[in-house]
Amino acid sequence: MSEEKLFGQGDPAIAEYAVKVFKPEDELLATVRKNCAENHLPMIQVGQMDGLLLETLTRLTGAKKIVEVGTLGGYSGICLLRGGGAGAHLYTFEYNPLHAKVAKDNFRLAGLSEQVSLFEGSALENLAKIEKHGPFDVVFIDADKNNYVNYFKWASKNLRLGGAVLADNTCAWGMIHLTNIPNEDRNSVEALQRYNSFVVDQNEFRSTLIPTAEGLTVSIKIK
Ligand SMILES: C[S@@+](CC[C@H](N)C(=O)[O-])C[C@H]1O[C@@H](n2cnc3c(N)ncnc32)[C@H](O)[C@@H]1O
Repeated sequence: MSEEKLFGQGDPAIAEYAVKVFKPEDELLATVRKNCAENHLPMIQVGQMDGLLLETLTRLTGAKKIVEVGTLGGYSGICLLRGGGAGAHLYTFEYNPLHAKVAKDNFRLAGLSEQVSLFEGSALENLAKIEKHGPFDVVFIDADKNNYVNYFKWASKNLRLGGAVLADNTCAWGMIHLTNIPNEDRNSVEALQRYNSFVVDQNEFRSTLIPTAEGLTVSIKIK
């Protein structure tokens, strides 16, 4: 995966236009991205326009209690918290200790440490620990693909009415529609296919797929 993912899944000129006009990445986010690279984290954080989309969707829902599965170096977490504004809190889950350390440094740099609870270890094992703080407004899923459905099931029980589940990578690197999937990608692509089909079948949610660089499935709790 490239460091700078292209917005729009199509014309690179439109992606360039979008970044030039909408200016999604300020100096802080650029520094956070650089810190991740310098600490040799995999450069798989959301792209600039996707970060802005997360911020915007979080603002739209008026979210204050935000959950993130898959912290990495804190880039998307900062975008989510920006969307939440003053008084917002991010509960974020990361099993890699180096990623968690870099994220903590980046949250400190952003002046957001007080607004973040970072849980180190398996997200599925740790999610139960925050249930007492719910219901939550937004749950952003961006970690192990095989557990996406499990994370959604957790979210559906712990989300308020009108809250949103946002799931990244749901275009499966351009393979989400395939039936004949290359062997090396089959596991992840099939997991993402299962996820999309699963959320569409949930009566309590209305879902759509936004064709961002990675694909973002957005599910709103409607009952
Ligand atoms: C795609 S990266 C997250 C990127 C981040 N959301 C961003 O855009 O800045 C996925 C992260 O999830 C973590 N992860 C994968 N499986 C996990 C699990 N079962 N529990 C907790 N974290 C997990 C990985 O270590 C990695 O840091």
